[in-house]
Amino acid sequence: MEKKRFNDLIKEKLGNINLIVASNREPVSHEYFGKKIKAVKSVGGLTIALEPIMKNLNGTWVVYGGGNADKAVSDEKGRIKLSEGEESYTLKRIFLNKTDINDYYYGYANSVLWPLCHIVYVKPVFNSTQFLTYDDVNKKFADSIIEEIKESKNNYESGHLSNISGGGGSDEAASSTSPPENVIWLQDYHLARCAKYIKEYDENIKVSIFWHIPWPNPEIFSICPEKHELLEGLLANDLIGFQIIYHCQNFLRTCEWELEAQVNWSDYSVTYKGHKTWVKPFPISVDADYLHHFALSRETDKIIDKIKKNDEIIGQTYEYLAVSTDRLDYTKGIVEKLKAIDKMLENHQELIGKFVFVQFGVPSRVHINAYKKLNEEIAELISDINWKYGTPEWHPVAGYFKQLELGVYLAYYRLCDIMIVSPLHDGMNLVSKEYIMSDTDYKGMLILSKFAGSSKELYDSLLVNPFNTECFAEKIYEALMMDKEEKETRITKMQNIIMENDIYDWAYNFLAALYFI
Ligand code: F6P
Repeated sequence: MEKKRFNDLIKEKLGNINLIVASNREPVSHEYFGKKIKAVKSVGGLTIALEPIMKNLNGTWVVYGGGNADKAVSDEKGRIKLSEGEESYTLKRIFLNKTDINDYYYGYANSVLWPLCHIVYVKPVFNSTQFLTYDDVNKKFADSIIEEIKESKNNYESGHLSNISGGGGSDEAASSTSPPENVIWLQDYHLARCAKYIKEYDENIKVSIFWHIPWPNPEIFSICPEKHELLEGLLANDLIGFQIIYHCQNFLRTCEWELEAQVNWSDYSVTYKGHKTWVKPFPISVDADYLHHFALSRETDKIIDKIKKNDEIIGQTYEYLAVSTDRLDYTKGIVEKLKAIDKMLENHQELIGKFVFVQFGVPSRVHINAYKKLNEEIAELISDINWKYGTPEWHPVAGYFKQLELGVYLAYYRLCDIMIVSPLHDGMNLVSKEYIMSDTDYKGMLILSKFAGSSKELYDSLLVNPFNTECFAEKIYEALMMDKEEKETRITKMQNIIMENDIYDWAYNFLAALYFI
């Protein structure tokens, strides 16, 4: 859907809304570089996907202010207006102390809920004290949202009164504009308890959540000591969105199993303590048009030329280039992918000296042990593979673990012969969609894990089970050998699928569903 169509549709169908989004991660943080303050963009899928929507709808985005200069640039209520051209939105930051961050973010969100919802055989580390902090931080988010709702009401009322008394228009004209409807859209597993506190303030406010990660089956979820508190928090929402229908079904079964809530399987709703919650799939997507044009831009062409002349990351000649971009997370299957590359080189020695794989990565959640261990394991595996097959002029694997500009990633996506996206379990995985939209020369092919939500839409890629090293290795080889015509047919089909459901479709479908229930 085009940006303009999105704006028109929202105005036409939803009218005057006061959109308040809340997520843990902020789209932009402010950081000190010496005495200067710079705005730094976040790399996560959630923030990249939501930012264009917020800009278009002029919304308010409540976030945890994690940048070391965030306080310095925000007003006393934590607000800062971010504008780009004519578009803008307001960030409203919540500031958390170290205990909050340890217990809520590193603790309950990322050491309990993250491993509980991703089935990759990493055990959740339950801790009831951390849950109390998690709940408390959820209440802080709710309080900040409520403050925003009150302020919007005051602004409306004072504007309305001044219209009536200021003589600018008739009473009739002043009363014809109704106050904007508050639409609250929570994001992700950090905010499972937030809706409950908003509804306690006013049960008529529309509250929803989009759960970006998978929802496990009832048996898996049943081990969580705080399962009832989490479910009751979530069921305070009017609408819960998941990435794929399978996660909706898991959630509804969990509600039946744990709460004996009344599930209506014909319309995917659940009624608990008299309140009805709708549960629907909304596969998240990318700003397809923007990515496609950016990949084709002169700016990207220039980066490609530079890489071709002198590439510090690859640093050697090659015939075949494979690329991956992941947050350094154990759910992303980086270790399994390196093992498959090792196997592929063992099985196809003709590729020695010709094949190079570049793993781009962004460090993540570095204070959690499982992540520290993963980083060590990745470094060891890269070094072992390079030792096993490398020659003085050539090594098969390069790792680059710092954040790059989007244009640089897109340049590599255009240059590569294959892109490997092989999470062990993933709600959606937007890198796979970004890659498809930027394969503008139809030069490459996507290898995609069956366990990424995006595999339900991108089934024209080469699908793999990343746990099956032998088959994974053969798929990499098959992708490398695929002829250009077949690549073009498959990539075109996938580009069309993404264009049919881009980020604007996603946001419109969600907001319209919430609005009309
Ligand atoms: O859905 C998971 C998610 O929130 C993604 O949107 C994002 O890529 C990632 O987690 C970011 O994690 P963090 O905010 O912990 O860096």
